Amino acid sequence: MPEQEVAARRARELRAEIERHNEAYYRHDAPTIPDAEYDKLFRALQGLETQYPALLTADSPTLRVGAAPLKEFSPHRHGVAMLSLNNAFEPAEVEAFDQRVRDGLESIAAVDYAVEPKFDGLAISLTYENGTFLRGATRGDGATGEDVTPNLRTLRCLPLRLAGEGWPPLIEVRGEVLMFKAAFSELNVRQRERGDKEFANPRNAAAGSLRQLDSRITASRPLSFFAYGIGAGADELGVKTHGDLMDLLAAWGFPVADERRVVQGAKGLLAYFAEIGAKRAQLPYDIDGVVYKVNKLAAQSQLGFVSRAPRFAIAHKFPAEEALTVVIGVDVQVGRTGAITPVARLQPVFVGGVTVTNATLHNEDEVRRKDVRVGDTVIVRRAGDVIPEVVAVVPEKRPTRDLFGEEPLNPPFVMPTRCPECDSAIEKGVDEAIARCTGGLFCPAQRKAALTHFAARRAMDIEGLGDKLVDQLVDAGLVHSPADLYGLTVETLADLDRMGEKSAQNLVAAIETSKQTTLARFIFSLGIRNVGESTARDLARYFGQLENILAADCEALQQVNDVGPVVAASLAAFIGESHNRQIIDRLRAAGVNWPASEPVDAGPKLLAGKTFVLTGTLPVLKRDEAKAMIEAAGGKVSGSVSKKTDFVVAGEEAGSKLEKALELGVTVIDEAEFLKLLNLGV
Ligand code: IVH
Repeated sequence: MPEQEVAARRARELRAEIERHNEAYYRHDAPTIPDAEYDKLFRALQGLETQYPALLTADSPTLRVGAAPLKEFSPHRHGVAMLSLNNAFEPAEVEAFDQRVRDGLESIAAVDYAVEPKFDGLAISLTYENGTFLRGATRGDGATGEDVTPNLRTLRCLPLRLAGEGWPPLIEVRGEVLMFKAAFSELNVRQRERGDKEFANPRNAAAGSLRQLDSRITASRPLSFFAYGIGAGADELGVKTHGDLMDLLAAWGFPVADERRVVQGAKGLLAYFAEIGAKRAQLPYDIDGVVYKVNKLAAQSQLGFVSRAPRFAIAHKFPAEEALTVVIGVDVQVGRTGAITPVARLQPVFVGGVTVTNATLHNEDEVRRKDVRVGDTVIVRRAGDVIPEVVAVVPEKRPTRDLFGEEPLNPPFVMPTRCPECDSAIEKGVDEAIARCTGGLFCPAQRKAALTHFAARRAMDIEGLGDKLVDQLVDAGLVHSPADLYGLTVETLADLDRMGEKSAQNLVAAIETSKQTTLARFIFSLGIRNVGESTARDLARYFGQLENILAADCEALQQVNDVGPVVAASLAAFIGESHNRQIIDRLRAAGVNWPASEPVDAGPKLLAGKTFVLTGTLPVLKRDEAKAMIEAAGGKVSGSVSKKTDFVVAGEEAGSKLEKALELGVTVIDEAEFLKLLNLGV
């Protein structure tokens, strides 16, 4: 047998054996060989793959240690949209859900529900092609997420190749990535020992670990996964219930929750809620409620979707956590766009898994309505990942004297008329709840925010330049604009408080490294209003060179996919400002550069000349969003169907327009097909 064939066979054997040990260790918590033996097998496989690179397969366990860092994540359009769930908090809402289900199914008998924990992590879609893990992405906006494939490969509990057989050629497995509580505590101990930032809770740790451009970091983080459903490929499985689907996923090698089961009727749902609620603290992972799904898949299709959520499922959430604390100050914060937000400074209080010291009061009207004053005892609420907020004041506890016992009563909050940071006027547009500082980049708060954005990981990626250091640099007058960063020296930095020689050297080195970037990152880093990461990417791809963008007018800009009149206007305004041009020139003169590339002639826009009619409720996209997407791709949206209509995009409860389309023989597509058109063109 030729040498390479022997090697190929050995590699296959090693892969199978290593995955067997992985499964025993990571899924069943029952190691089958000593670590040293495992390492030997692993290194043998790595050796073979290095010697014969052609032997490396997409499902090789050696990929689990991570790969070279990416510059950025690429977008991934889901085959089937990732939806969200409607929430219930009260038993009455659960009963109403059950009633709606029975009405929809015309069922007198109690309905069977598959019930399971609601994992508090982040939603992920995994695509398998012919049983091999091909791609994995975050939920994103439901239609498009971020491709985090190399990171997901490092999760030992995920099968790189499906066990068993009978899987469709293409399947999307949906589930939640999370971190177990014990693993989270250990990770934080490690972070602390190394002087790295600790994570606030397991969910943040999971999200932070998965969204690493360097998958070797992800590989070092103890992430887990639970499967809870299927996207594309669901119709080809031959199972009849959600319960059977979960068993099938388990047989293919996916972790599924032990707590899942099937119950009957609203009574069964509420009993399950109580049972899991009592167990919540003992579960090894965080949950924020339970999920109820109609068990029969045929009944699920019959019930369908409304807006962005299924009618056949609901999340029954545990109440958000609340705590009492005292307001020690009320002041205002200036945001990146100049928005002025009143903030309550609080006596530190532990709520919803973190220590809270500030809570947002949203806007002036809100503070008035709640009448929050210094010295008040307030109820603070924090749910999931949202910013803590002040729910209400406890009026009986309002002090009759102020904290110093002098003034008889603390006065109500008044919005300052001048920005606390730059003394520019604060203005509020007619009909606007939000007040804004008019100082623009002269306002240090806005300048600081612009600099933090510029240095962010997904922008110029200046490691170590976070908001604290930006504050110091601006306050010391060392940095006014992003261009000033490139003039910083170890000597000037070393004068700053708490900045040692070594940290100063590291920062200067990180700033130097950041000079090598991509055009897309550079555009994104400028913080142009309405120009997010994906628009920046589209602009870079379309124009190829910065000079071409700077020379483009509104009309030229709108040739870019996804750029409509609003984005084009923001860009044109930014480009037209000589101050911005100067900063760009200075950045380039300082050596900021990117690989040259030719403009990609996008040719005519993908949907140029095509007329669309939208009807019914789409599962994920709102009507306005779909319309904007069509227009940005060069298509037109019309209100009525005629022979000239090219496509009717039909959602739930599409009525007469759908009938008309069928009558005229106009092509009718659903949301998934529509998204495909946007990607691939007609
Ligand atoms: S089913 C059609 N099951 O909750 C909707 N979701 O608001 C499919 N989640 O983004 C979702 N545990 O990340 C489902 N057992 C579970 C879940 C679960 C957590 C999350 C999921 C989704 C969000 C829905």
